[in-house]
Amino acid sequence: MFSVALVFGLTATAASAGPLLTPRIDITCPIVLEGRVASSTALSDFDSYSTSIFNPDYVRGSQPWSQILVFSNTTNSRFENASYKSIEVTISDQSIFQSQNGFRRAGLQINGDTNTGGPGSKGVKTLHWSVKQDSSRPLNLTHEYLNVWHERADYNGNQFNFQTGTVIGQSYAKDTFKILDRQNVLVWSTPIDATAWQNFAVTLDFDKNTLQVYYSEGDAALAAVTNVLTNDNSGEGQYQFGILKKPTGTSDVVNSGYQEKGILEGQIYGGIFLEDSADGCISL
Ligand SMILES: *[C@@H]1O[C@H](CO)[C@@H](O)[C@H](O)[C@H]1NC(C)=O
Ligand SMILES: *[C@@H]1O[C@H](CO)[C@@H](O)[C@H](O)[C@H]1NC(C)=O
Ligand SMILES: *[C@@H]1O[C@H](CO)[C@@H](O)[C@H](O)[C@H]1NC(C)=O
Repeated sequence: MFSVALVFGLTATAASAGPLLTPRIDITCPIVLEGRVASSTALSDFDSYSTSIFNPDYVRGSQPWSQILVFSNTTNSRFENASYKSIEVTISDQSIFQSQNGFRRAGLQINGDTNTGGPGSKGVKTLHWSVKQDSSRPLNLTHEYLNVWHERADYNGNQFNFQTGTVIGQSYAKDTFKILDRQNVLVWSTPIDATAWQNFAVTLDFDKNTLQVYYSEGDAALAAVTNVLTNDNSGEGQYQFGILKKPTGTSDVVNSGYQEKGILEGQIYGGIFLEDSADGCISL
């Protein structure tokens, strides 16, 4: 009697709780840089080279990563099974990198992603990341945010930016995620979803100098949302994931401008990885 009820109960649960039991999607291409966080990771692991998959020293203010990152314990994103968990990057008034007093920033860089000569700036690579919003640490969309980008080795620009908020000097809608090209021209945008995972991928062809954007929401498969677009991908550099909040009311955003006091903002990330798309392989 009991075991029959148990079997029936499990079957009923399996039939009704679809999303919870959906197997995560396997990555089908060679992983070049792994930014998915193992579920066994402790926050203190992010503070040392021997235990972190990210650079423990960059790009942050004086607080260590263990005080910047939060485990939000949300459901896993599309490319993460139970062996992985998401992380939330937060910023506060203390998030000042070196003497960059205009910004509030915290950005993760994957170990092995070197500024020059690294694997992430040659051939054809697809960068994946997923984001989710934390209603208890909302971004202030009056400001301009950079969330994911590939920064040139000479630090004089980015091959692409993934942004949100009010892009200074532009009239793009503020409540969207935006992909901008090397010229800082908008190539695609989508509204911020308050609750669902939003999954992004950008294929960068460093030989042909092109870029293509993929997107999906929740558990849906990624689909191309732009054509293959011409983009100058030269200049090498590194990928960064997190929050860079620009100030308002200045032309010198790095050093001056207005930042409200008492901020506590966050962006949840999951499914960060760079895969090799040399043979046209893209995990969807
Ligand atoms: C997530 O779970 C861990 C471990 O139980 C806990 O320490 C942490 O406070 C939780 N995070 C949130 C945002 O509740
Ligand atoms: C998660 O996926 C990886 C790679 O496919 C696999 O090795 C691992 O066993 C999976 N973990 C779970 C808990 O299913
Ligand atoms: C958003 O930022 C602006 C400019 O810094 C500030 O005036 C405003 O109070 C902020 N809004 C919220 C809800 O924090």
